[in-house]
Amino acid sequence: MSRILVISYSWTGTCTRLAKLMCSQQPGWQLGEIRLAKTRKGRSGYWRCVLDSVLRLRPAFLYEGPFPRDFDAVVLVSPIWAFSLAGPMRSFVHTWRDHLPDVAVISVMGGAGASNAVREVERLIGRPSARHAAFTMQEVESGQAGIASRKFGDALRELEDFKHPETFAALSPGPA
Ligand SMILES: Cc1cc2nc3c(=O)[nH]c(=O)nc-3n(C[C@H](O)[C@H](O)[C@H](O)COP(=O)(O)O)c2cc1C
Repeated sequence: MSRILVISYSWTGTCTRLAKLMCSQQPGWQLGEIRLAKTRKGRSGYWRCVLDSVLRLRPAFLYEGPFPRDFDAVVLVSPIWAFSLAGPMRSFVHTWRDHLPDVAVISVMGGAGASNAVREVERLIGRPSARHAAFTMQEVESGQAGIASRKFGDALRELEDFKHPETFAALSPGPA
């Protein structure tokens, strides 16, 4: 089986929830987390998030998780802010762009802006994403996202198993 790492940034918890769900659906998938170096709260925090997106800022962040290059693919799970990629995910992709394997992009949003986020990630890494999908916050919170997130995970795993047969062979159980 291919090695896949899910890396999420979440301000209000929805993306973390989806990232954990995907890891629980796919055996062996691991989790990494991006956090803002300086916590944001309340109305001023909200406007700081909007400003990040409008001005394409890259706020300081912390990454806690395995080294992405040790995987065949990473799944980036991020909210949409002001019709764009959330600032901390922009910072992460910019900083780590030379150390990222195949990249899949999942956006979680109220309803609009996911295509801009995919385009921005692809521009930052200089290549197309392996797969991308978008969920509404409501779909994640109600549990409705579960079927689509499993299908997304299955499709990505199959794609990576096909592209990286050496990992597949190394991690699969051998003959008895
Ligand atoms: C500052 C800010 C800007 C947002 N802008 C958009 C937007 O342009 N389009 C949209 O569909 N949702 C927008 N949302 C909604 C979030 O994308 C949505 O609530 C998402 O699930 C939040 O993820 P999180 O709980 O992991 O932080 C915005 C939320 C915030 C906080």
